[in-house]
Amino acid sequence: MLSRSIKTSSIFQIGRTTMSKRYSSIISVHRDTPEDNQNIPFEFNSENLKRAQEIIAKYPPQYKKGACMPLLDLGQRQLGFTSISVMNYVAKMLDMPPMRVYEVATFYTMYNRKPMGKYNLQVCTTTPCQLCGSDGIMKAVQDHLGIKPGQTTPDKLFTLQEVECLGACVNAPMLAVNDDYHEDLTPEATVDILKQLQAGKELTKIGPVSGRESCEPHSGRKVLLNAEPNDIRNFTRADL
Ligand code: FES
Repeated sequence: MLSRSIKTSSIFQIGRTTMSKRYSSIISVHRDTPEDNQNIPFEFNSENLKRAQEIIAKYPPQYKKGACMPLLDLGQRQLGFTSISVMNYVAKMLDMPPMRVYEVATFYTMYNRKPMGKYNLQVCTTTPCQLCGSDGIMKAVQDHLGIKPGQTTPDKLFTLQEVECLGACVNAPMLAVNDDYHEDLTPEATVDILKQLQAGKELTKIGPVSGRESCEPHSGRKVLLNAEPNDIRNFTRADL
């Protein structure tokens, strides 16, 4: 999770090269809109209310504001984005000044302050991904969908975001589709993923498209050759 303040807006020159800094793709200033204003009521549904109470119970009563981030996440998952009403609801539930919640929600890029498409596409363009071809991935998405970072397709199916490192550098370049990572991408594989989503298909295969397992070396596994890597019981106490 990165502060969106890292990306600023301006054009500056180094020597003879003009470099364009990129705008953050997400607004961090609230302006009332028909979809996002304080008059739109919000409250957790019964399932999320129960989950929220379980989360809050993990914190000492005097520190329940520690539950701010997971509760905002819960609200975003229910509504589709982190509206002003979601933030106010969480603030009230945690006895926090609303401004404190606004500060959290506008600092972390995981909170989307605008209505999102059904699929939130996050293309990482930080150095390891860029060195492995993320420019091509970004171009493939933009060319195929006809949108730029920060925009949503007219059918509300996709929202595109350019993001900082998502922690899958060893499998760069990568694209996150909602919570799932697609890695070792090529522009062709990226377009194939988008076409499957446009056709209404479930993406059953996540992770590397190159065929390797997780982040093992491209040339095959080098360690734990006799163990089943996916069975955690092979590596932990029997009573866990
Ligand atoms: S640099 Fe792209 S996931 Fe880390």
